[in-house]
This record gives sequence, C-alpha cells and structure tokens, in this order.
Amino acid sequence: MSRRTEKKKSKKGTKVKQGWRTARDSDRHELYELSVQNVDAEIDFVDRVWERLRGRTARTLREDFCGTFAAACEWIRRRDDNTAVGVDLDEEVLDWGRNRNLPTLDDDQRSRLEIRRKDVRESGATGIETVLAMNFSYFLFKTRDELRNYFAAVHRDLADDGILICDAYGGSDSYTEMEEERNLDGFTYVWDQNQYDPITGDVVNHIHFRFPDGSEMTKAFTYEWRLWSIPEIRELLLEAGFQKVTVWWEGTDEESGDGDGEFEPTERGEACPGWIAYFTAEK
Ligand SMILES: C[S@@+](CC[C@H](N)C(=O)[O-])C[C@H]1O[C@@H](n2cnc3c(N)ncnc32)[C@H](O)[C@@H]1O
Repeated sequence: MSRRTEKKKSKKGTKVKQGWRTARDSDRHELYELSVQNVDAEIDFVDRVWERLRGRTARTLREDFCGTFAAACEWIRRRDDNTAVGVDLDEEVLDWGRNRNLPTLDDDQRSRLEIRRKDVRESGATGIETVLAMNFSYFLFKTRDELRNYFAAVHRDLADDGILICDAYGGSDSYTEMEEERNLDGFTYVWDQNQYDPITGDVVNHIHFRFPDGSEMTKAFTYEWRLWSIPEIRELLLEAGFQKVTVWWEGTDEESGDGDGEFEPTERGEACPGWIAYFTAEK
C-alpha cells in the first residue's frame, strides 16, 4: 500500500536483465511481502510501544488478518519466550505461509506459533498482550457497528494491560482515483486507488505488479474498504471500551519533506497529501 515514507517516482524504460521476474514466474504472495510489508519495522514498533507505555516488552502477540503471518513469525524470532497466534479466514493464504514462512522457523520457534483459520471477531485466542492489525485490514468493516464490534472483540480478548496496535492511511491523495508506482527489485509495485465514493466513503483499491518484460499481474489483490478517518476510528475505539487511544504520527525529513519513518504520539497532524498513522488502544 502507499506508504508516505516509501513514495518514489517510477523509472520507466528499465532494461530487462536476465533473471528478472516476469508475471508468469512470479508468486503474488511473495511480491506482496516484498512490496507492502516490513515486518522488522512493525515488530520494532510493537517493542517501542510497549517500552513507552508499559515499561517492558510484551510476550504474547496475535496478528489479526495475518495472511502469510510474516509479522507473527518475526515476533517469534524476536525473543525465545515470545508466543504468537495468527488469525485469518483464507485457507489459501494461510497455506502459502505454512509452506513458505513456517520452514524458516526452527522446531522450538514453530512450537510457539499457532495459526487459526477463524474470523478475527471470534478467534478464541484470549489473554493476549498485543493484537496487531496492520495494513488497514479492518477497513473492510464498513459500518460503525461492524467496526465497533471488531474493536470490542479485540478489547474482550486482550489481557488486562493489553494494547491493540493498528494503522490507517489518508490525506488528500487518498480521495483521488490514481495509480502510484514503486520500482522494486525486478518488478514494479502499483497501488491503484481505483474507486472512491464520496457519499459512502467506500474505496476499491487494487495492487498490480508489472515486470521489465512488459508482462503484468493485474488485480493481484483487491480491497473493498471504507476509508475511515482518524477521529472516527478514535471514537469507535473509545466506544468499544478502550481507556486510552493514542495516534502516532510520522515525523518529517527536513531535507526531502517526506516522512522520516519515526512515529511519535501526537495530538495535532498536518494536512499532507498522503499519510500513514499508527494507533495504540490501551485496554
Ligand atoms: C490486507 S490483507 C493483510 C495481510 C497482512 N496482515 C498485512 O499486514 O499485510 C487482509 C487479510 O484479511 C483476511 N480477512 C478478511 N476478513 C477477515 C476476517 N473477518 N477474519 C479474519 N481474516 C480476515 C483476508 O483473508 C486477508 O488475508
């Protein structure tokens, strides 16, 4: 997805190098992990939140909407006593993770990770210190009731001092139907904000991948979401029972004017065209 810190202009006319990817020999989940996810940084952020808000690190993490459960794997690798539960409804993506990510863990690490094919609202994984819901996945809940019910289910499942960590995106660009390209190693990632409806707030976004030989993987992923605003999310988290909700806003790199990748608790943001923010919601 479009990250303010990662915005780069595409370079067209790149030469095709031998060994570069093509649509035919590429795997959409692998490309997704390479282009959208940075699980190292995500887990660094979880640790920073816990140090800042609770003066310690957490041990238990549930990755909601986990897909290939890459963040849960990183959590397991981070410390020998960490445990994780990954929750997703889709057997196909979970199987991909079982085949590609599980083998990167040793036996002890695997024994500390559990994958549940369940709805995030009724996973049964409770007493959890951190629930992580990243890459805007909860935007699929399109009504206030649905989103409040999800947040209430997380609140119920958290340990007494537990914290929900999630993200949101927005800014004037997010209301525009536009494509944004990023050149990555041997392929181009395309974030296609295909539809925005100002009346419902609904968006349809696609991820496409393009390759140096001219081939394309179109609509590799499609997201039908409601574009929630920060005040709406904050209000719903509080209505769902959370005691304290903090917005972590990204700092600005003085030279480039882009985001600097450092997120800090902030009460007032800036009207930038594209932003990503994190939320922490404390039980
Ligand atoms: C945008 S992907 C998120 C992947 C990954 N967590 C990330 O950070 O990039 C959304 C995932 O949510 C899953 N999903 C959608 N609705 C769900 C639900 N109600 N319960 C559990 N998983 C759900 C989909 O199967 C999909 O794998």
